[in-house]
Amino acid sequence: VVPAPRRDQARPAAVQARPAAASELGDAGDFRNEPDTDPALAPNRAWGRSILARVPRSTLGNDTLAACAVTSADQAVALVTRVREAAPAWAARPANERASVLLAAADQLSARRADLIEVAASETGKMIAEGDVEVSEAIDFARYYAASALDLERVDGAQFVPSRVTVVVPPWNFPVAIPAGGVLAALASGSGVIIKPAPQARRCAAVIVEALWAAGVPREVLVLADAPEGDVARAIIEHPAVGRVILTGSYDTASLFRSWRSDLPLLAETSGKNSIIVTPSADLDLAAADIARSAFGHAGQKCSAASLVILVGEAARSERFRRQLVDATTSMRVGWPDDPTSQVGPVIEPPTGKLLRGLTKLGPGESWLVQPHSLDESGRLWSPGIRDGVRPGSDFHLTEFFGPILGIMTAATLTEAIALQNAVEYGLTAGLHTLDPADVRVWLESVQAGNLYLNRGITGAIVRRQPFGGWKKSAVGAGTKAGGPSYLYGLGTWARADRDR
Ligand code: SER
Repeated sequence: VVPAPRRDQARPAAVQARPAAASELGDAGDFRNEPDTDPALAPNRAWGRSILARVPRSTLGNDTLAACAVTSADQAVALVTRVREAAPAWAARPANERASVLLAAADQLSARRADLIEVAASETGKMIAEGDVEVSEAIDFARYYAASALDLERVDGAQFVPSRVTVVVPPWNFPVAIPAGGVLAALASGSGVIIKPAPQARRCAAVIVEALWAAGVPREVLVLADAPEGDVARAIIEHPAVGRVILTGSYDTASLFRSWRSDLPLLAETSGKNSIIVTPSADLDLAAADIARSAFGHAGQKCSAASLVILVGEAARSERFRRQLVDATTSMRVGWPDDPTSQVGPVIEPPTGKLLRGLTKLGPGESWLVQPHSLDESGRLWSPGIRDGVRPGSDFHLTEFFGPILGIMTAATLTEAIALQNAVEYGLTAGLHTLDPADVRVWLESVQAGNLYLNRGITGAIVRRQPFGGWKKSAVGAGTKAGGPSYLYGLGTWARADRDR
């Protein structure tokens, strides 16, 4: 099946089997992932350049935002009431009708692939290839949750009751996939949705909402609330009709929401402090390349990013490994997203506080293996850095810095390395590089993280293949994983289905 023609035709249409109607959906287990754009094809490179040329002047989403400003608490309360009233009709539609709308949403997002990449680059500095992956993930969420909506109806003996209103509060660092994922999941479950975009990625949210409205999601069921942080946002979250809040952000934001409303039904994916262990048997060249990519992709601004590498035994003494890691790091080109040769983009704003400390100040016993530098007067372009000699229990061992900075720790044994990996409060992603199956067994028994990666990088979870979600302080509320089989289950309540009545 060839997808519908795209507005921007330079990129060859991806050809893959995909469901065109809900009647063609199997269960979520039959799902196929959307392919990313292949830059090896010359027309795709031309397509990419045409997007980059538009980035500096991009205004996509502005008109929708202007119509969706929410400036007072009264207005916020009225908005929640409006969604609460519209939601039952959406929930009452048969699941296959809602699934059909989600399949149409997948096509609308696909038709806006270029627009979404453009607006993500323009607003947040996201590289074109990273934006492209996000669009694929958003499309995956639409198709996967369409199938999941049907699965909800197949649970025997229990009836799913969606919350009337779900509020989605996404982050700026994945400005396409994460807002789309939250909204699509809630819609699939039968809930009405209010999305409160991140202040740095408001136009991205607007383009996503436009795509979903165009797919047939009623405007009163999906509402964009372009509200300032603080009292207006608080009025939305505190409203008793809000049955779920899907938050992706910091642990502090989750705590703030809970302080506003202690009974808040929160599904939150929060912070991380993620590490990759490298054992002596590992393929050290592969490990170095995977670590650099995991640490510095999107300038380290992923909750899943590698922030620490923990070298075990002989690996800790390997000069070759350090040289490879330095080469992998210093050969990455740092630049703005409208330069197609850039690999590491800008940080979201000139670093202050914690991130500035991470980029400039060494802790006791630490030394720069690669010292980071600010590269231009914007203050946002930083060459990636690596600090060696990070000590157990130190600031860099335990704190999330969320930028292009990696620390090296060492351990005498794998058991000691796992203890260092687990010593952090968070548990989002974790990696192990080893060629010894015995190491893998030991690690799997004791590592404390939601997403585990063996002999590869630790970012870039893929819908259905690697459902994404954390453990410990990386998750607040019911810990089901986004893009996984039971995610929708956590978005409502269950009643006993009494089939005799
Ligand atoms: N899902 C992203 C990743 O796996 C993080 O949000 O990198």
